[in-house]
Amino acid sequence: MEDDDSDEPAQTTMSRHEFCDDDENPVFSIYIIENLKEDYGLFVWPCSVVLAEYVWQQRERFSGANVVELGAGTSLPGLVAAKVGAQVTLTDDSSRLEVLDNMRRVCDINKLKCDVLGLTWGIWDSSIFSLRPTIILGADVLYDSNAFDDLFASVTFLLQNSPGSTFITSYHNRSGHHLIEFLMVKWGLKCVKLLDGFSFLPSFKASGLSGNIQLAEIALISKDNA
Ligand SMILES: C[S@@+](CC[C@H](N)C(=O)[O-])C[C@H]1O[C@@H](n2cnc3c(N)ncnc32)[C@H](O)[C@@H]1O
Repeated sequence: MEDDDSDEPAQTTMSRHEFCDDDENPVFSIYIIENLKEDYGLFVWPCSVVLAEYVWQQRERFSGANVVELGAGTSLPGLVAAKVGAQVTLTDDSSRLEVLDNMRRVCDINKLKCDVLGLTWGIWDSSIFSLRPTIILGADVLYDSNAFDDLFASVTFLLQNSPGSTFITSYHNRSGHHLIEFLMVKWGLKCVKLLDGFSFLPSFKASGLSGNIQLAEIALISKDNA
């Protein structure tokens, strides 16, 4: 597939991601437009495959949920959440217009209705104040330690704006949990679940991925537990 708006031929491809029942029969597929020339937001990163599978396996919890995906990029987890009945807002850096445009296109090709919003971590645009997610998703958003504080600031704001909500994130555990643990204490957060990302992936997905991917569920420390 080529991008007609570009002067150069774009290295745009379409990838298909299957979600299967317990007998590994496909129930549905999500199609994603990727641009292999671009980094970050126009590529399906392995953490996104892990988080999307988690959403699928936890689908009863996502049905009817209000979901915000941060740093969504190609948006696979958020699209799966929409497919299983969540109200979904896909967000990414406000300055990355090509990423936001691509999100609208993948919603269209999958016939899914999601809101698409520019949301830069640590920036308080008016739109963030109206978001009241019950679940916040973030796949591979913990990759640049310079941005961790801004990300945690936005996550903490959303968790406070929507009491009882949870942040579910998948990330490469490259250097241990020390920085993440430090930031959770700093922002008044606690890890309520920590899983090896490969522990729940079907073998046909796990065989194509490598690394030490973890999935954490993070919540506010309630005043009662403080
Ligand atoms: C490694 S990519 C992960 C993309 C997607 N979640 C996935 O796993 O395929 C990181 C994403 O975070 C976004 N991002 C980076 N810095 C950001 C910021 N300060 N505010 C909002 N989004 C940001 C990037 O545009 C990109 O989409």
